[in-house]
Amino acid sequence: MRLVKTALTIAGSDSGGGAGIEADLKTFTAFGVHGLVAITSVTAQNTQAVTAIHDIPPEVVSEQIKAVAEDIGVDAAKTGMLSNAEIIKAVAKTVKEYDFPLVVDPVMIAKSGAPLLREDAVEALIKHILPLATLVTPNRFEAEKLSGMKIKTVEDAKTAAKKIAEETGAHAVIVKGGHIEGNEAIDVLYHNGTFREYRAPRVEGCTHGTGCSFSAAITANLAKGFPLEDAIKIAKEFITLGIATGHKIGKGHCPVNQSAWIEIPAEKWRTYEELTKAVREFENLNPVKLIPEVGTNFVYSLPHPYARTKEDVAGVKGRIVKYGNSVKAVGPVEFGASDHLARAVLTYMKFYPEYRSAINIKYSEEIIDLAKEEGLIVSFYDRREEPLEVKEREGATIPWGIETAISRAKKRPDLIYHLGDVGKEPMILIFGKTPKEVLEKIRIIL
Ligand SMILES: Nc1ncnc2c1ncn2[C@@H]1O[C@H](COP(=O)(O)OP(=O)(O)OP(=O)(O)O)[C@@H](O)[C@H]1O
Ligand SMILES: [Mg+2]
Repeated sequence: MRLVKTALTIAGSDSGGGAGIEADLKTFTAFGVHGLVAITSVTAQNTQAVTAIHDIPPEVVSEQIKAVAEDIGVDAAKTGMLSNAEIIKAVAKTVKEYDFPLVVDPVMIAKSGAPLLREDAVEALIKHILPLATLVTPNRFEAEKLSGMKIKTVEDAKTAAKKIAEETGAHAVIVKGGHIEGNEAIDVLYHNGTFREYRAPRVEGCTHGTGCSFSAAITANLAKGFPLEDAIKIAKEFITLGIATGHKIGKGHCPVNQSAWIEIPAEKWRTYEELTKAVREFENLNPVKLIPEVGTNFVYSLPHPYARTKEDVAGVKGRIVKYGNSVKAVGPVEFGASDHLARAVLTYMKFYPEYRSAINIKYSEEIIDLAKEEGLIVSFYDRREEPLEVKEREGATIPWGIETAISRAKKRPDLIYHLGDVGKEPMILIFGKTPKEVLEKIRIIL
C-alpha cells in the first residue's frame, strides 16, 4: 500500500525557479506530498522576462502522464502552461483515462507579460480541458477572456466565475483577486451553485509564481483528501505567507517562497531548542553580578526573511532574575516573550542579518573597559540625544538607539550600551549570531 500521497503537475519549466513545475514541486513538498511531473514546455525565464520557449512533443507529454499514473498512481493533478492546442488535446485525451481530481490553472501570460498560450489555443482549452476540471483558477485577465466580460470588482468576479462554470462545464471556478484592486486580495469561488469568498490582506512582497503555487497548493491538499473548500482555504494561507516572505532575488518580480510554510515551523523548533539550552547554561554560570534590576532577557530570532515582528523572536517569559545567590529564568522560552530586546535584535538584523541573538546585562564601566581590552567592539547611544519625534513614537527608542550605535561604530559592535535616563537603568546589550556565541562573550566578561 502506498502511504504517501502524490500530486502531478502538467506544466512548463521556469528556469528562474519561481513559477511553473519548479514552483509546483516545491509546493507539493511543502505539503508532504510526493510530486510528479509531465513537462509541456521548457522556458528560458528569469524574474524579468521569458527569452525562449521550447514546446515538448504532445506524445511525450502524454507519455509522462501515463508513465507516472500507471506505475505510481496520481491522487490529484494540475495543469499549468499548456502552450499549444496539440498539447492541450493530448493532455485532455490522456487524463480522461484516469479519474483523479484535476485543477486547471488556465495560464495565458507570464507575470512579466510574455504569452504562454498561443492565441488559437484558448478555444482548445475551453473545449477540451475545462470540462474535465474539478476546479479552474483564472486570474482577472484569464477570467475576462474565458467569460467575455470585463472584471473590475468582486461582484464582477462572481458573475464571471458562474458564467465560466456554466458555459464550460467546469465543476467549480475560482476567480483570483491578485489583479483586482483593493486592500484585500479576494478570490471568489463558484461551486455547486453557491459563492464563497477567500480573503487575505494584500501584502507587499514577491509575486512571481503566485498563480502556480496557489493552484499547486490546492492540488496537494486535494491529494491529501481535503474537500475543495478546505483545500482552497489552506492554499490561501500558504500563498499569502509565501508572498510576504519571498526572497528578494533578481531584478524583476521576485518569486514566492514556498518553503516558508515548512521552514518557519522547523526554524521555530531549532530556535526554541538552542535558546532553551543556552538559558540553562547561562543559569549555570550563575552570573549574579551581571543581572540588572529589571532582569535579563536572552533572545533568539528566526532567521531572515522570517524575522518580521517580535512574535518571531524567542525570549524568556518573565525574564531571568536574581534569586538569592543564584540566577533563574522565571518562565520558559517562548516566541513573543520579549519586547525591548526583541526590537533591539530585529533592528540589529537589518544591518547584520546573521546576528540573531542578544542578551542584556547590568552596566558597569569595568565591564566596558574589560570588553574593549579583550578585543570586543563596543558602541553606545545616549538617550539624551534622542530626537523628540522618536521619543513620542511608541517603541521607537530602541530601534533609534541601536541604529545610532551601529552607525557610530566603525566595525560591527559586539556590545552596545546606554547610560540610562530618568527612571531608566543603564544597560549593556551583547549581540551574536547564535545564543552560543552570545554566551562565549558572557564567558569572556565573567
Ligand atoms: N499582493 C498580494 N497579496 C496577497 N495575496 C495576493 C497578492 N497577489 C496575489 N495574491 C493571491 O495570490 C493568488 C494568486 O492570484 P494571482 O491573481 O496573482 O494569480 P496569477 O495572476 O495567475 O499569478 P501568476 O502571474 O503567478 O500566474 C490568489 O490567491 C491571490 O488572491
Ligand atoms: Mg497565473
